[in-house]
Order: sequence, then C-alpha cells, then structure tokens
Amino acid sequence: MAQEYRTDDWEQYRMTYREPHRELEPLDAEIAVVDGVLEALHAAGALPHTTYDGDKMLAHRRAVAEMFEIPWTAISPRMQRLLYALNAIIQPENMIAAGVFCGNTFISNAGAGVGPGACYTAGQLIGVEIKPEEAERAERNVRRIDPTGIARVLAADAIDVVADFAEPIQLLYLDADGTPEKGKGIYLDILQAAIDTMPEGSLVLAHNSVNAAERLEHYLAFVRDPANFRESVNVVLDPEGLEVSVK
Ligand SMILES: C[S@@+](CC[C@H](N)C(=O)[O-])C[C@H]1O[C@@H](n2cnc3c(N)ncnc32)[C@H](O)[C@@H]1O
Repeated sequence: MAQEYRTDDWEQYRMTYREPHRELEPLDAEIAVVDGVLEALHAAGALPHTTYDGDKMLAHRRAVAEMFEIPWTAISPRMQRLLYALNAIIQPENMIAAGVFCGNTFISNAGAGVGPGACYTAGQLIGVEIKPEEAERAERNVRRIDPTGIARVLAADAIDVVADFAEPIQLLYLDADGTPEKGKGIYLDILQAAIDTMPEGSLVLAHNSVNAAERLEHYLAFVRDPANFRESVNVVLDPEGLEVSVK
C-alpha cells in the first residue's frame, strides 16, 4: 500500500547545492528527524530494525567533507544520514547506485560498507555514471575513501549495468536523469532491468520523489502497486524526497 512520511518543516529545510557541508540544523534535530523516518519505515515493514552507529555515520561524513571534490549536490545532511542509515541497517552485499554524478550520492549509500563509516563487509558496491568525465571524478573521489576497490564507479549506462549484473542486488539507488526527453522517467527502465535479480526484502531508493514527482509518475505507480512491491513509502524530509520501496 502506498504511504507517505512527511516532516512538518520539509519545505523550509533547504540546502544550498554549492555548500554541501553547511549545517542546516542542530545535529540532535537531524538525528531525531531521521530516527522518525526509520521508525515509520520499520512500522511499515520495510526495515528489520532502526539501529545504526551514529559515530560511524559522523566519521563517514567527515571523510567525505575532507576527501571528496563536490561541485554541487542536492543531498541534504538529512538525506545523507538517511541513506547511510538505510545501508547500515540492510547491509546489502551488492548495492548499485545509478546516476552518481561526482559520487556524493553513491558514497552516502556505500559509506556504510567502506571507509571510516564501514559497519559491515560488503561484496560489490557499484556507482554508475554515464558521463565519462563525471565518472572519472567520482571514481577518483571514491578511491580516496576506499582503497580496497569494494566500492567503485563505472562509466556506463545504468540500464546495461543492472541488466548484466549476475548476482543478487539487495539495494538499488536511483538518481539518473536520463535524456532531456525522458528525464528521471528513466528510473522505471533501470528498475525493470534490475528487478528480477532483486531478492525478497531488497530495497529500492528513488531520490527526487517530491521535486520530480511528475516525471516519476509511471515509476511511482509501479513501486506503489502491491503486485510489484510489498511496501513503498514516500519520505518527505526535504524538498527533494526519497521513495523507499521494499520488494
Ligand atoms: C542530476 S545527477 C544526480 C545528482 C545527485 N542527485 C546529487 O545530488 O549529487 C544525475 C546523473 O545521472 C547521470 N545519468 C543520466 N542518465 C544515466 C544513465 N542512463 N546511466 C547512468 N547515469 C546516468 C547524469 O549524467 C548525471 O550525472
């Protein structure tokens, strides 16, 4: 059944895209908002529990601030914490993030498995970026935080990467903006190429469920159809939003 979790202040909570590390609210407030989201997702049956290591999350945040070149990002501190926490809770062996630009969205997910925020041993954490020069920068950023190569960035079309991936994908993060004609509507194509390799209980996270809702109309209808996904919750904690769907 489609559900929504909305904070009272989601419209006022605004970041400046070119100042990714600026604090927007006291840390306690940020933690409380994300805890509220995790509890709602747990109540909806999307998460097995709501516990993650807050110190490791902050170690991850500091490392990204020190090591990553980020020209701009729409990942707010709340969203960064939420993505980290979801990965820390689900602990996907294999995670694929589609449309990673400079890699900040990717590492917000992968940071639970590599670098100073790592809280489990992952298999393959793959970011996919179709523009070679952006993929190169993202890979450079990721290499600074993860010398092991468990997390890596591919310069490719995310549809091809998920279609060719031979192992189960436990977490799929969607952020690709496709062609000018298609825009974020490409999420549905990527999901449909991946869905057969996603086991029961796996998560699909779709960024921009709020500010790209129109372009995502078909995607949102698909994940909110109980024939396709067990639960789907639109998390409205900032003006971008995240649709969290559990298979
Ligand atoms: C707007 S950016 C996402 C930025 C991200 N929300 C952030 O705040 O950092 C979307 C990225 O998806 C990439 N992209 C578009 N279509 C793609 C595809 N089919 N496969 C992989 N990446 C794609 C674009 O090149 C672009 O860098």
